[in-house]
Amino acid sequence: MPIAIWTPALSLGVDSLDADHQKLIDTLNMVFDAMLFDRSSAALHSALATLDDYVTGHFAREEAWMQARDHPDLARHRQEHEALRDQLALLCAMSDLSDQERSVELLMVLRDWLLGHIAHSDRDASGP
Ligand SMILES: [Fe+2]
Ligand SMILES: [Fe+2]
Repeated sequence: MPIAIWTPALSLGVDSLDADHQKLIDTLNMVFDAMLFDRSSAALHSALATLDDYVTGHFAREEAWMQARDHPDLARHRQEHEALRDQLALLCAMSDLSDQERSVELLMVLRDWLLGHIAHSDRDASGP
């Protein structure tokens, strides 16, 4: 069961960033599945580590993309990325991932943040 779905409404029209965002959403869904169906802590920690890796890689690629275009909003955009990484670090550090309700709640906060960020900040950053 997906927690997030990529739709063309999220498209920035930049193929590499769109592909990254789709993969991020897939990875978020993988973490959600592990939370629901495979809560052995190893599986869930591994899914979270994959998400953390992918978020780090994506943010670096997106910031490099903005930097190459001398984007005036890069510093603020980078701060938004840091805020998401802080939230994700909180989830990764949760000692008791078996608290399903709390971990799903945090993942939903991350999901809302990420989709809102793509639809607004990333869209503004990639606009003309
Ligand atoms: Fe992005
Ligand atoms: Fe971004």
